[in-house]
Amino acid sequence: MSQLRRPKISVIGAGFVGSTCAHWAASKELGDVVLIDINGDAAKGKALDLFEASPVEGFDSRIQGGSDYALTANSDVVIITAGLPRKPGMSRDDLLATNAKIVKECAQNVAKHSPHCVLIIVSNPLDAMCHVAMSASGFPRERVIGMAGVLDGARFRSFIAEALDVSVEDVQAFVFGGHGDTMVPMPRYVTVGGIPLTQLLSKEKIEALVERTRKGGAEIVNLLKTGSAYYAPAASAVQMAESIVRDKKRYLPCAVLLKGEYGTTDLFCGVIAKLGAKGLEGIPTLELNVEEKAMFEKSAGAVKELVDAMAKLGV
Ligand code: NAI
Ligand code: 2OP
Repeated sequence: MSQLRRPKISVIGAGFVGSTCAHWAASKELGDVVLIDINGDAAKGKALDLFEASPVEGFDSRIQGGSDYALTANSDVVIITAGLPRKPGMSRDDLLATNAKIVKECAQNVAKHSPHCVLIIVSNPLDAMCHVAMSASGFPRERVIGMAGVLDGARFRSFIAEALDVSVEDVQAFVFGGHGDTMVPMPRYVTVGGIPLTQLLSKEKIEALVERTRKGGAEIVNLLKTGSAYYAPAASAVQMAESIVRDKKRYLPCAVLLKGEYGTTDLFCGVIAKLGAKGLEGIPTLELNVEEKAMFEKSAGAVKELVDAMAKLGV
């Protein structure tokens, strides 16, 4: 018998995003899945319910749930979604102090049971929570990666595909910077079937799509009223997990700790990252023009303000 084993993906926080992550990960057969929540019975119930869907949907994935981190032992990838979501009128930054405490506790527990895993952070405010997770886990930057750019890029891609009435599959687009109002969609690099977007839509139409992307999270919050988006966020986190567990080495927009790249040091910010079995395997350099550089620096500045605010709060 070979020693092959299925990859193990744990998801911390079994709320809307976490349980949907478990759903996408299991249905893609990325591996076995564990759902953890302070409400252990809810996590256990959702895991059991999802497992019972597997004969119908035809996926082979053992799914367990509970509150005990021992279940997560030796995970390959752990996705942290625990924390409060936004409500109408709240910014992602309003969640800072509460979620910092939650993410710290989760990352410490994960590191204890899976010291070699790659952490994907989802909890908001995203870039600041990556700092918390990195310091609480003691992991190197290669193994702490934030999910935001895939989601913001997916929103941008959806809106572009709709505007042009083309397949979403043919739209390549990404977003740089922090996951907040200062995020930096990059229309100059968008292509549709290989054709630059700037040749297909007017400047005004592109600007309207950029603005909708920046406010994409709030658009959903205002409609849901009791929480924030979860289908697209979960699909995005699972796409990152897939690139890691299958060693696909995809170039995906992710929040990573910059060490001089794009003129930024010791700050998590969204850039294109190469994701493979080791986690972050490279940061390709993209040429930014003066305007893009200024927007990126403004966005990095907004992340720094949050990191400084956490230091003042002592979290
Ligand atoms: P939710 O309220 O549905 O789920 C959060 C879950 O975390 C709850 O089940 C809660 O019991 C659990 N939890 C709280 N404290 C915990 C702890 N100490 N240990 C374990 N579990 C704990 O919220 P939802 O919609 O799933 O969102 C989760 C987080 O993800 C929020 O902070 C939200 O803002 C963020 N988010 C980030 C996105 C991004 O692009 N980075 C996109 C969407 C959501
Ligand atoms: C989103 O962008 C709330 O960050 C979350 O939907």
